[in-house]
Amino acid sequence: MIPGVPGESQVYLNGEFLRVDEAKVSVLDRGFIFGDGIYEVVPVYQGNAFRMAEHLNRLDRSLAALRIAQPFDREGWIDLIQQLLARTNLETCIVYLQVTRGVAKRDHQFPSTPVAPTVFGMISAWAPPPAAQRERGLAAISIPDERWLHCEIKSVSLLGNVLAKQQAVDAQVDEVVQFRDGYLTEGSSTNIWVVSGGKLLAPPKNNLILEGIRYGLLGELAAEAGIPFESRPISQQEVEQADELMLSSATKEVLAIVSLDGKPVGSGKPGPVFAQLRAGYDARIAAL
Ligand code: PDD
Repeated sequence: MIPGVPGESQVYLNGEFLRVDEAKVSVLDRGFIFGDGIYEVVPVYQGNAFRMAEHLNRLDRSLAALRIAQPFDREGWIDLIQQLLARTNLETCIVYLQVTRGVAKRDHQFPSTPVAPTVFGMISAWAPPPAAQRERGLAAISIPDERWLHCEIKSVSLLGNVLAKQQAVDAQVDEVVQFRDGYLTEGSSTNIWVVSGGKLLAPPKNNLILEGIRYGLLGELAAEAGIPFESRPISQQEVEQADELMLSSATKEVLAIVSLDGKPVGSGKPGPVFAQLRAGYDARIAAL
């Protein structure tokens, strides 16, 4: 048994549904050798995948960025997700999808003769953030962003993100807030939001951050709640003086960051803009 991976549900690997301990990939898989692949993390509530179309659109963009051939059309991906969900007894869970360039002799360049991409899908046990986290908020530390310059690709080359997250764990906080050249980028596996003077701010969508599926969603929720939203470079000083800070991701949904580098953010409690966005998020899930 692998903790957190339901042993009773089956994973998908290259056309087959298998038990997780039966699914094996070659040691020459370029995902294993080079981190040459992409992934998606789709949250599922009561059997309903949330923002599936947006996740699959991003999967298409990631594959195109790496010039990996699409293994499935849209219906094929939806069918795979449905088949995975049918093979688990979990109703609220995570669908993880991964595509690598496939198996080839170790050589940095792309294989000169086409190889079949490795396609993997699994269901992971997951529960939405508990009430205590929603009500109390999270703690974070600021760190320099030392990752590469293609953070817009949802690549499985996640070493920079792994090392960043470990810094949070070592500092006994929940997440890092990364800065590059004095400007906010994102968390280790989350987008970061700033509230300043009644406005919701997020860093621009460019190669320095992953455009989270919740990036678009929070923009929509802000518009619905009449909260002005601006996407622009945000200096470290603005983050330090923010009225509110938040993070978002498929697994964390939207949560307040109430302490940064040991100092309270604003009032030190989840703020009113967070409360409005959180309510909007909950309403979208309830409407699924
Ligand atoms: N991470 N930025 C990074 C670097 C991320 O890894 C993620 C998501 C996000 C938020 O994206 P979304 O709203 O689509 O989840 C931003 C996922 C959850 C993960 O790697 O597990």
